[in-house]
Amino acid sequence: LAPHDLAGLTVLVTAGPTRESLDPVRYISNRSSGKMGYALARAAALRGARVILVSGPTALEPPPDVEFIPVETADQMFNEVTRAFGGADVIIKAAAVADYRPVTVSHQKIKKSGQEMIIELVPNPDILAELGRRKTSQQLLIGFAAETNNLEQYAREKLSRKNLDLLVANDITMPGAGFDYDTNIVRIFGPHDEVEDLPLMDKNTVAHKILDRVIELRKSRQGA
Ligand code: C5P
Repeated sequence: LAPHDLAGLTVLVTAGPTRESLDPVRYISNRSSGKMGYALARAAALRGARVILVSGPTALEPPPDVEFIPVETADQMFNEVTRAFGGADVIIKAAAVADYRPVTVSHQKIKKSGQEMIIELVPNPDILAELGRRKTSQQLLIGFAAETNNLEQYAREKLSRKNLDLLVANDITMPGAGFDYDTNIVRIFGPHDEVEDLPLMDKNTVAHKILDRVIELRKSRQGA
């Protein structure tokens, strides 16, 4: 039985990919399955938290006992997350937000012309970086990073640039790690240059390990 060590806390989780429309039938997206974020939402609810799950489109059933807010685009995720943010004690951003969106969305299906076609993209807002700017000293902000190279350097840089309390990094080139697997291999980077390397484990177990770190951090802040 899970400990009720998150009782009284509100945990906001984001999960899944975002979808950025090109026209009524096409979009740009990524390979995120949402499994890691849904595992976190489920684990936090089991441990007694009030859980708000803001999710891009996935094939998964929302876990029981979570407030589920489905979104499609990065802009919609930004709006829902910033709305829920003020009431959250812990914010975990496991979503794979599309970094770019098409500059225009055609209202009609784009016809093929036989010519080369160029799609112009504009950057999406970085939701996590914005939360890092708005965060109070009572809130804990946890980010994810999926990298294929220079994992440690990018992870530490992201932790400090986005003002995070923890960063969970996975090397998506490792067998059994990352997108669409039921397992993951993660390294959890903390605020004082510490890193915890976890072996290959299923995403539910990874979720509980991350929440254990959240509890530890809260305790150390309260004791400080
Ligand atoms: O910089 P990078 O995209 O690798 O950072 C990944 C982290 O930032 C994830 O936690 C992801 O949810 C978050 N992110 C975000 N908004 C974006 C891009 C990434 O919240 N536009």
